[in-house]
Amino acid sequence: MFVRIPMKIPRRLIVLACSLSAFSLAAAQTPAASATLTVRADQPGPVINKNIYGHFAEHLGRCIYEGIWVGEDSPIPNTRGIRNDVVAALKNLNIPVLRWPGGCFADEYHWKDGIGPREQRPKVYNSHWGGVVENNHFGTHEFLDLCEQLGTEPYLAINVGSGSVQEMMQWIEYVTSDGPTPMADLRRANGRDKPWKVKYLGIGNESWGCGGSMRAEFYADLYRQYQEFAKNYGDNRVFKIAGGANSDDYHWTETLMKFAKDRMHGLSLHYYTLPTGNWRGSKGKSTGFDEAQWITTFRRTLHMDTLVTKHSEIMDKYDPEKKVGLVVDEWGTWYDVEPGTNPGFLYQQNTLRDALVAALNFHIFHKHADRVYMANIAQTVNVLQAMILTDKEKMILTPTYHVFEMYKVHQGGTYLPIELKTPDYALGEEKIPAVSATASRDADKRIHLSLANTNPREAIALSTKLEGVSAKKVSGRILTAPAIDSHNTFDAPTVVAPQTFTGATLKDGMLSLTLPAKSVVVLTIE
Ligand code: AHR
Repeated sequence: MFVRIPMKIPRRLIVLACSLSAFSLAAAQTPAASATLTVRADQPGPVINKNIYGHFAEHLGRCIYEGIWVGEDSPIPNTRGIRNDVVAALKNLNIPVLRWPGGCFADEYHWKDGIGPREQRPKVYNSHWGGVVENNHFGTHEFLDLCEQLGTEPYLAINVGSGSVQEMMQWIEYVTSDGPTPMADLRRANGRDKPWKVKYLGIGNESWGCGGSMRAEFYADLYRQYQEFAKNYGDNRVFKIAGGANSDDYHWTETLMKFAKDRMHGLSLHYYTLPTGNWRGSKGKSTGFDEAQWITTFRRTLHMDTLVTKHSEIMDKYDPEKKVGLVVDEWGTWYDVEPGTNPGFLYQQNTLRDALVAALNFHIFHKHADRVYMANIAQTVNVLQAMILTDKEKMILTPTYHVFEMYKVHQGGTYLPIELKTPDYALGEEKIPAVSATASRDADKRIHLSLANTNPREAIALSTKLEGVSAKKVSGRILTAPAIDSHNTFDAPTVVAPQTFTGATLKDGMLSLTLPAKSVVVLTIE
């Protein structure tokens, strides 16, 4: 639905009108179809690792520079150069872990370029992303300061492609050794007395591609060599993550598990959702897309379930005790860049469609909580499926941000299996389940039930049986909007924002609600 609004109406009223219409639209829909769900709270599953809600921030476009780092002299309010508005917004997501400095950038990053007095740090060429000058003002100290400000665990991506074993060893020593050792002394000389705790180390990134174009067999041996020198200092214990497969490269996983499973704590997997599935041509637009691209995007993102299932099956073969965690350390949507922006900056808008993509992926990761140890969305600010977009001093929260915020109640919860019978949502040749769901129980015994309706035209009546729960109270929030490509802008920042959802009722152990078209609903049941 497109409503033309005369120019004279003040923008704030337009925003309010949009939000209200989204809300009343949600409230007024009559369901055309129905679904049933059983939540097996009587058969609790594994813990949902909070790291599934992890992030990834690369030296790419305006993610680090402007998005996070503005420098101490910036008029944008900052703490030691890191912008305060972004930190405050991200803190509200309880980000458990943050991967840095890449991505492809990691395999050409030399950490010593990013320490010491900033004005003396070398300016280097960012060959992967936009060919811009990297001044190295955001380096190891700044990243670890960001992690401390956010209360998040750092995850360092080690340069295997163009670095060396010695370079990696010295970086680990620099950040985690209390000394007296040369690197600990260097850190002290640069103003940090005590070492940091750095647990997560990714040894290489996309070593099959931008990280070195290696064969699985070659990388497996290289990984074995590198990991041997990833040392523990004091009581710091490193968690070694081997670079994993590109989407459905099962041979890669097989090879790594076969030759290195006893030398890793995690194995990664990268999968991006492109509406067209075409890496070489147009990937699809981030806004102004049609319903055909809406449904195709979901079909492609649901492929994550197949990938996690099949990679897990291979891992199960070599590691039936599930000691090695699957680390999906890059996932999310990837569209054509916004017109007029640097193609190497990967800047894209973020709509209600992205919110549903995030929800569907969380449902998949929860379902595989026995194997999925961590997932890191690409990327935190201004790049790909971002939480936050900035325009100099301005900042907006995206629909994806809101799903991360609404879903944080699942972090560290106990997964509750579900049985779902849902109608399909079909368009032309495409067909996907209309409803998707996930449930967990938190430490205070509250049940959190999250639901998504991918059908953009039809509400669905949902009856839910709660096995093993004596529920007395239900409350909730909903994320929906008037159009499939509704999004927030710097002029209208709350077009897509969570609202209170009062449409769920409890009677005789049954939970009933109408799940509005194109919506995400998160319920808390007590
Ligand atoms: O997230 C953008 C890029 O996608 C990363 O740098 C790389 O690892 C992947 O190909």
